[in-house]
Amino acid sequence: MTDEMRIADPAVRIDEQELEVSLRPRQFADFVGQEGIKEQLGIFIEAARSRHEPLDHVLLIGPPGLGKTTLAQIIAGEMGVSIRTTSGPALERKADIAAILTNLQEGDVLFIDEIHRLGRSVEEVLYPAMEDYQLDIIIGQGPSARTIRLDVPPFTMVGATTRAGLITTPLRDRFGVTHRLDYYGIEDLALIARRSASILSVEAEEPGLLEIAGRSRGTPRVCNRLLRRVRDFAQVRHDGRVTGPVACQALGMLEVDEEGLDKVDRGILRLIIEKFDGGPVGLGTLAVAVGEERDTVEDVYEPYLLQKGLIQRTPRGRVATRLAYDHIGAEAPPHQKLF
Ligand SMILES: Nc1ncnc2c1ncn2[C@@H]1O[C@H](COP(=O)(O)OP(=O)(O)O)[C@@H](O)[C@H]1O
Ligand SMILES: [Mg+2]
Repeated sequence: MTDEMRIADPAVRIDEQELEVSLRPRQFADFVGQEGIKEQLGIFIEAARSRHEPLDHVLLIGPPGLGKTTLAQIIAGEMGVSIRTTSGPALERKADIAAILTNLQEGDVLFIDEIHRLGRSVEEVLYPAMEDYQLDIIIGQGPSARTIRLDVPPFTMVGATTRAGLITTPLRDRFGVTHRLDYYGIEDLALIARRSASILSVEAEEPGLLEIAGRSRGTPRVCNRLLRRVRDFAQVRHDGRVTGPVACQALGMLEVDEEGLDKVDRGILRLIIEKFDGGPVGLGTLAVAVGEERDTVEDVYEPYLLQKGLIQRTPRGRVATRLAYDHIGAEAPPHQKLF
């Protein structure tokens, strides 16, 4: 797959990073949607601040691009503390996490992305740290080894994950607050597109923004990506203004369809329908056949296709629904029981 086609790619490319930073909301007031989460976090933050205590540990769950990193940064900002960012795979040894914890300032936010990928031994260091702000360090080896307890400054851990099911129960239990981020509705995405267009000084009309919003697969990151590509198209082929027809043409050229499905999504549907007779197909088989990482299929493509009712999960694998046959214009076999 070329980069151009990978609209739903969960990875943020280098040239995109700067853009993400410039478009990232810095306070709740700019963070569109997810009203329940904002309201609750707002109350917890205000309460913690007035008690001069760190905020309880927060776990954020949801598909890539929905605002987990953004929320972690906003939490730190609204608490008036610094944020230290790391990720599950980056923390290989106990010493890695011990060094980070002992260098925190009181009240700081420690953001651990992809927290479902923490190693077991690192996780065990976190338990007493999260619970009692203590760190157990073993000094020496063999019979002369002894454990010393160090105090860690009171801190707030914010964990983010795309895969709540992979987090162990003891770790999950140590988070006082857990929020699940949902896909955004078209109105919220249109607001995000409007805000981004204004930051990027792109002249955009409401129908153009709605067109982009409707094809953003419920995901702010995808929305910003599409806006940027539509802007390029508008500049080169038209007068730079993102109107309804211009957005429509540009998105057609990018092969993002009306449902927000891209080539990979449609490839997955075709495969299930044409090669596997509608399914069931195992996820691993699907991933290999479309040339994507299994994790990407599981985190990005599958949840959206499920949400759209285009596929269903069965104990034996994924099956195409009647909607999927309609979507790719295939004749549904009469003998088959379809969902
Ligand atoms: N609720 C929101 N309002 C406005 N922009 C958002 C919102 N959520 C995410 N974004 C934008 O989408 C991009 C991806 O968000 P991010 O927090 O990095 O997602 P995640 O960490 O869940 O993968 C960011 O650049 C941010 O600007
Ligand atoms: Mg992130």
